[in-house]
Parts: sequence; C-alpha cells; structure tokens
Amino acid sequence: LVTSGPTHEPIDAVRYIANHSSGKQGHAIAAALAREGATVTLISGPVDEPPPRGVAVVSVRTAREMEAASLAALPSDIAVCAAAVGDFSMANESSQKIKKPDDGSAPTLALKQNPDILATICQHQVRPRLVIGFAAETQNVVDYAMAKRLRKGADWMLANDVGKTDSPVFGSDHNMVHLITEMGNEAWPEASKQEIADHLVDRIAKELNR
Ligand code: PMT
Repeated sequence: LVTSGPTHEPIDAVRYIANHSSGKQGHAIAAALAREGATVTLISGPVDEPPPRGVAVVSVRTAREMEAASLAALPSDIAVCAAAVGDFSMANESSQKIKKPDDGSAPTLALKQNPDILATICQHQVRPRLVIGFAAETQNVVDYAMAKRLRKGADWMLANDVGKTDSPVFGSDHNMVHLITEMGNEAWPEASKQEIADHLVDRIAKELNR
C-alpha cells in the first residue's frame, strides 16, 4: 500500500485547501515496488502523474477518503505513506460558493483536524510488517522527523526538507532524504525521485528478507 499526492479539503462548492505535492515521489515508489514484483495498491490524491504500470490505483480527494481507501487496502506487508495529507479540513464546509461581502470583511474559516492515516495504520490490528512514513519539514529536519517517527509509531521515516527555495522538493524530479530508523539517521545523497524509490525498495527487500 502506497499513498501519494495531495489531499483537497473543500471549503465550499468551488474552493479547496490543498498543497504542492505532485505525486512524483509516491508514484515512483509504487512503480519501483511493482517492478520488483510486489502487488501494489496506490492510493492517490488529485495529481497529473500517469498511473504507474502494474499498479492498482485508487483515486481519492480528501484525507477521509484516503484513510478509508488505505484501511480497505489492509492487510498489506508494507505501507509507504508518501502523500501530503492535509492536517486540517473545514469544520463546516459550505455546499454553495461563499459570496464576498461588500463591506470588505472576510469570513473566518473554522478548521478541524483530519485523521492521521499513518498513525492509524501503525496502530491497526493488522499492522503491516513495515510501515514507512515521510516527514516534510522546513527546519530541524532530522530532529523533527525522529520525533515524528516515534509519535506516529512508524518503523522508518524518510525526512525531506521542503523549505528550500533553491531546490524545491514539491513537484521537482529530485529529492534529498534522510532515512530514519531505530538504528539512527542515514543521509542519502541528492538523487532523482526514481533513484530514491529504487534505493528504498532495495532496503525494503533486505529488511523483509532478514
Ligand atoms: O509529491 P511530490 O511533489 O513528489 O513531493 C514529495 C513529498 C514532499 C510530498 C514527499 O516526499 C513527502 O514528504 N510526503 C509527506 C508529506 C507530509 O504530509 O509530511 P508530514 O510531515 O506532514 O506528515 C508525516 C507523515 O504522516 C507522512 O507520511 C504523511 O503521509 C502522514 N500523514 C500526515 C497527515 C495526516 N493527516 N495523515 C497522515 O498519514
């Protein structure tokens, strides 16, 4: 099971809250797993990436839909959560377009927390043998990702710095990650998202054959 892409959290019938995830990293991992012979379900938010060959794709929009599709894909040996899931959605979504008031005022948007899909998978009664999350950070990348691994209960976290304006991660074909496991932190060299996916799949295969 692999999650990928952004989630769209509707504000009203016309607008939504989303993020810059293109799905490139998550789709590359799904494709690499399939090339190695895994049966892969890719649960993807709205992206322009083509569906990877040999992968069953479930298209979703919201975090709640992604959670439902992820839980429906269990049991699974491996879960890789590469999606940039919105942490919040609208507390009261409007079914109509919200009209702009003439007096110059702006509405206050009330938010509620979305389910944490990665944490839910980690605590599930049919937990995959290996649960891997991504940590998108803009500061203290490794420390925050280490804390996130423990808080969410993941086996591994891949930490990436999404705050660098000179080499953005969202939407680009390259990434630079740290692999964080219970053994510590490994910095991987900058590489294409495809190469990172291939390297991750090698590590997954070694771990499962141990
Ligand atoms: O899609 P690309 O353009 O290729 O960009 C790749 C990427 C930057 C999106 C990817 O490498 C990445 O970092 N994905 C995780 C983004 C993210 O939501 O990070 P986070 O630190 O906010 O979340 C930590 C983990 O919890 C992630 O595995 C995420 O999927 C998961 N999560 C987060 C919130 C939530 N409500 N449910 C979750 O499961």
